[in-house]
Amino acid sequence: MFFPITRLRRLRLNQNIRDLFTETKVSVNDLIYPMFIITGTKKSEKIESMPGIFRQSIDNALKEIEEVTKYGIKAILLFGIPDKKDDIATGAYSKKGIIQTSVKTIKKEYPDLVVITDLCLCEYTDHGHCGVIHDGYVDNDETLELLSLTALSHAESGADIIAPSDMMDGRVAKIREVLDDNEFHNKIIMSYSAKYSSAFYGPFRDAAQSAPKYGDRKSYQMDPPNVREAIREIEQDIEEGADIVMVKPALSYLDVISAVREEFNHPLAAYNVSGEYSMVKAASKMGWIDEDKVVNEILTSIKRAGADLIITYFAKQIAKSINK
Ligand code: PBG
Repeated sequence: MFFPITRLRRLRLNQNIRDLFTETKVSVNDLIYPMFIITGTKKSEKIESMPGIFRQSIDNALKEIEEVTKYGIKAILLFGIPDKKDDIATGAYSKKGIIQTSVKTIKKEYPDLVVITDLCLCEYTDHGHCGVIHDGYVDNDETLELLSLTALSHAESGADIIAPSDMMDGRVAKIREVLDDNEFHNKIIMSYSAKYSSAFYGPFRDAAQSAPKYGDRKSYQMDPPNVREAIREIEQDIEEGADIVMVKPALSYLDVISAVREEFNHPLAAYNVSGEYSMVKAASKMGWIDEDKVVNEILTSIKRAGADLIITYFAKQIAKSINK
């Protein structure tokens, strides 16, 4: 049926009519808020490239978590920044490590909050790479051993979801095995399955002090032009036992999110990464965009592309506006 019988503008006549036909809506249940934890007490360090986001000691983080839960956000994603780094990432799997102690403290005060721990070695290695290095190359299988130790320590400290972001082959199977061998059958694995080697992580590496000291991450993170390879990565992680798969970054990879959604029925997360956050904040500071509207449009597009969950530094901001 064509014009003039069909007039698509009829369904856009006013706000109430438009509301009836909204196809995609971001809910607070979709949001995961990332946080950076440092050692010590009463510390809040500004991250210059990420306005509004801080590296905090656990006491201050708890205050922010109170706010996070007040907005109805159900899940946080923790990154730890240790005092000391070495070439085998000892701080990542130490029982007294920054993540292990923080998760325990958070779980004591907020037992129902879903605590997700990012599982990677790059914040804990002195060279800043995501694994053990031999002859300048990140050794996959040796790194798996350290990742599985780390995963177990996260589970023991009470994390609900373990999120490997290292991009080693075979890590999901290895983590599932170590968790199951230790009676952690109900610990969830959210795998950063299709994680691209992206310039959009720039501000995060300032935040987590995790930039590689030499070289780049291209021998383990994915090459941005590839989408069929993303499908293979996701397929592998599902076979290995991932409960949730992820595409990261989100905004320049909406086509990847959509392709994964078409192909699989697994819960799918997308990471609206630091660079995507900082660009919006910068343009907003210049007065060039309407920040809240742009944020809403971005997050809606990620959900429309097919993501069930969105990890975003905008979580509090958007939750506040949804609740209004
Ligand atoms: C750790 C990790 C990174 C991010 C999440 N986990 C950085 C990287 O791979 O270099 C990036 C998150 C962001 O940019 O917001 N490997």
